[in-house]
Parts: sequence; structure tokens; C-alpha cells
Amino acid sequence: MRQMTLIGFLQAQNCTNQASSWRHPQSRTDSWSPDFYRHIARVLERGKFHLAFFDDRLSMPDMYGRDHAHTVAHGIRCIKMDPVTVLTVMGMATERLGLGSTYSTTYFEPFHVARLFATLDLMTEGRAAWNVVTSLNDGEAQNMGRDEVSAHDLRYDRADEFMAVVLGHWDTWEDDAIVQDKATGLFAHPEKVHRLDYQGRFLRSRGPFTVPRSAQGHPVVIQAGQSGRGKRFAAQWGEVVFTAYSDFETAKREYAEFKVDIARGGRDPEHVKVAQLVNTIAAASRSEAEDKWAEIQKLPLEIDALSLLSEALNFDFARKGMDEAFTDQELSEMSGLQGIRDRVLRVKKNPTVRDFIKISGRGRVHNPIVGGPKEVSDLMEQWFVERACDGFVLSATHVPGTYEDFVNFVVPELQRRGLFRTEYAGITLRDNLGIPVPPLAAWRRTLAPVT
Ligand SMILES: Cc1cc2nc3c(=O)[nH]c(=O)nc-3n(C[C@H](O)[C@H](O)[C@H](O)COP(=O)(O)O)c2cc1C
Repeated sequence: MRQMTLIGFLQAQNCTNQASSWRHPQSRTDSWSPDFYRHIARVLERGKFHLAFFDDRLSMPDMYGRDHAHTVAHGIRCIKMDPVTVLTVMGMATERLGLGSTYSTTYFEPFHVARLFATLDLMTEGRAAWNVVTSLNDGEAQNMGRDEVSAHDLRYDRADEFMAVVLGHWDTWEDDAIVQDKATGLFAHPEKVHRLDYQGRFLRSRGPFTVPRSAQGHPVVIQAGQSGRGKRFAAQWGEVVFTAYSDFETAKREYAEFKVDIARGGRDPEHVKVAQLVNTIAAASRSEAEDKWAEIQKLPLEIDALSLLSEALNFDFARKGMDEAFTDQELSEMSGLQGIRDRVLRVKKNPTVRDFIKISGRGRVHNPIVGGPKEVSDLMEQWFVERACDGFVLSATHVPGTYEDFVNFVVPELQRRGLFRTEYAGITLRDNLGIPVPPLAAWRRTLAPVT
């Protein structure tokens, strides 16, 4: 029977993706300590989650007013650690939980990313995953030695090449290359270790790559493109794909279209898991959950929204007064997450700053499922069974509370309904996701462009 995929959406930072989360009375205050992450990992593994996943950004939000003072003062994602290092700590505290992280194709060399994740995959016995992103704001560019971020589609063109280099390197060592015969002195068959010699428009890398394949072949590839270009990229390369569909009907339609795109690209759509972003406020009963929700709604500040809007749209919202309408020119200058801008524009043609805050909901928990085990499971069941997604990536309002509540109240109900497994299927992430180990160079054979 088809089983729901469950993923914890984590941040190696001082708050969740809700900047206000650190103010929650039950949030732990040691989010830069190893014990904090070991604890989350154990909670997720107790709940049989497939994956603990970290987002990443290579700068603190400082686009608003072109200054970081407000970010630090209000704790708006101002601490951001390297997520792969944190994952190794979590890997040491668990045995089955998958371990995924974002790493940018814009600022790192593909050889480096390939080696980092291949090593993580070996050190965790095949539990690693990499989320491929194209990084979107100027703060990141300036921290990484550039002036500004490059154009959206160009970033994806470069990311296509990046994938060819990373996957190409991951194919370097044939599965039976290593013999380690002390008697003959042969370590590995030279003819089974290949040089890549990649030369593209943006990237070059020679090889041979220095890390052999893992128990799951290579790390699972995650992607979350939402634009037309982004979705084509995801259909081409993603094995787990994150979505942020706005509603159930849209989700059903887009999920179906996306699965067709995957098949058209030559892959089995059942082997690509679509996980919808979700916020849950769960408790033993609906009324307790509603009380929790009321408390959470008191936490966000206006400055959270202004800072995060400026960061995500790569546009300084301090340039405008609260009730001043943006001009067409200014709207076209917003070069970050186009989806946020477009959602606001669908409601109002020339919005003000206040409209942006209100309509985008940035800095606030968006449309959560609030309830006891029954209410939360009902909605998740509907989305999963009626094929609006294959599972969920669970965002937190406070940590570790959100994950503990979900594991204590919702997971048992999903298991009782037969929607979610009661035990891990195996050790590797692919075993647990039900995705087969990719044969060497399989990705080259399915490289028909998705149009
Ligand atoms: C659950 C989820 C997690 C994401 N994590 C990151 C991240 O860590 N870093 C990042 O730069 N973008 C992240 N994104 C943004 C996507 O990679 C993508 O850029 C965005 O959805 C817009 O789509 P587009 O790139 O096709 O315009 C995430 C998106 C989702 C839905």
C-alpha cells in the first residue's frame, strides 16, 4: 500500500522559518548547541519520519534598510550555521532517519558539493539527501564575492550543468571497483574508476572523483522549484520535490501535471515523492490546539514581515512608506521569489507595503492545520489519498514543540489509519522512501529534456 512521506523542515538557525518562533515560551534557547539537534533528530526518528531536512541561506536578512541591526535585535534568522555539519551530529544520534540539506548551486563548486554529500552518505550508511537550490538574494552574492545575484533562468541553466557534474562525479567509482586484495596488492581496478572531463558553458571539472558510491548509490536529490523553469528543473532532476501549493484543487491539478512531466522525462513518477509544505498546530484535542494557535499568533512583529519580504523579494521595503503604492517599475525590480510577489499582485495591482504584509502573510504562520489527531489527520489523509501530494514537509512554529506534538498526537493516528508506516523499511533513505538504488549513469539515459 502507498505510504505517506513525512519530512521535518528544519533550520540550523536561531528560529524556525517563523522568525517569531524563538519568542515562543516553550522554544528551547540553545539552538546553536549539538544537544538541540540531537533531540530533534531523536524525536523525528521516534515518529518514523523519512527525513530531517535543513533549508539554507548564505546571509542574514539585511536587505530591509540595507542594515542588519534590526535582524540581530529581533532575532530574525540572524544565526545560520552550516547545515551539513549539523546533520552529521544528528546522524550520530540516529540510525534510520534520513538527513537532508540545502546547498547552493550558485556559490559552491560542484566537485565540492558532490564530495560533501557523498561523504555524508557514506558516514550515515546511505541516509543523505541534497536539496538543489539556485540562491536568490544579493546578501548571499555579496558574502560570496559577487555584486548581485544573477538572473533567475540563467541560474537554472547553470544548475543544469551543476547536476551533470555532481551526478557525473557520483558515477566515478563502479560498484565493484574496490577489491582491497592485500595478497596481490591491488586496491581497486583502475579501469572501473572514471574521469569525468566535463566542459560546459558555465562549469568545468576534470575528476576522477575521490569518493566511492554508498549503500544507496548516491544521495537522494531534493528540489523545490515553483516557477515554470523551476518545475521543469524539478521534473528533470528531483527525487523528492517540495511544493507550496496554495489550495487543494490547485495541488491536485499541478501534482497530476508534474507527474506527467516526470514520466515524459523517462522516469517512474512513483519514484519521485512530492511533499507539500504544511504547518500543523496539533494537540490532544481541538480546543487545546486552538489555545496553542492563539498563543502563537501573538508572537510575530511587523518588522519580521518587512525584513523577510525584503529578503525574499530582494527589494528594500524601507524605500516606501507603509501606505504608498509600488509603481510598476518597482514591482518589476523585485527579483527574488516571484511567487510571493505574484500572489500579492493577483489580489491588488499596485499594492502598498501594508498590502504586501497582509496578503503575503510573510512572517506569520500561513494557513495551519489546527486540531487534535482527528482534524489534522483528516486533512492530511485527503491530500494524500486524493493525490494532491505524496507526503508533507512539516514546518515548525516552535522547536522542539511542533515536532513533539506531531509525533505524539498525529503520527499514531496516521499509523492507525494505515497511511503511515509503523517501522522503518530499511537503513538507507532510498529503502525508506521506496526509491530504488540508481544504477550507474541511469540519469544519463533519462536525460530527454522535459518540455
Ligand atoms: C519547502 C521548501 C524549502 C526551500 N528551501 C530553500 C532553501 O533552503 N534555500 C533557498 O534558496 N530556497 C529554498 N526554497 C526555494 C526553492 O528552491 C525555489 O527557489 C522557490 O520555491 C521558487 O521557485 P523558483 O526557483 O522556480 O522560482 C525552498 C522552497 C520550499 C517550498
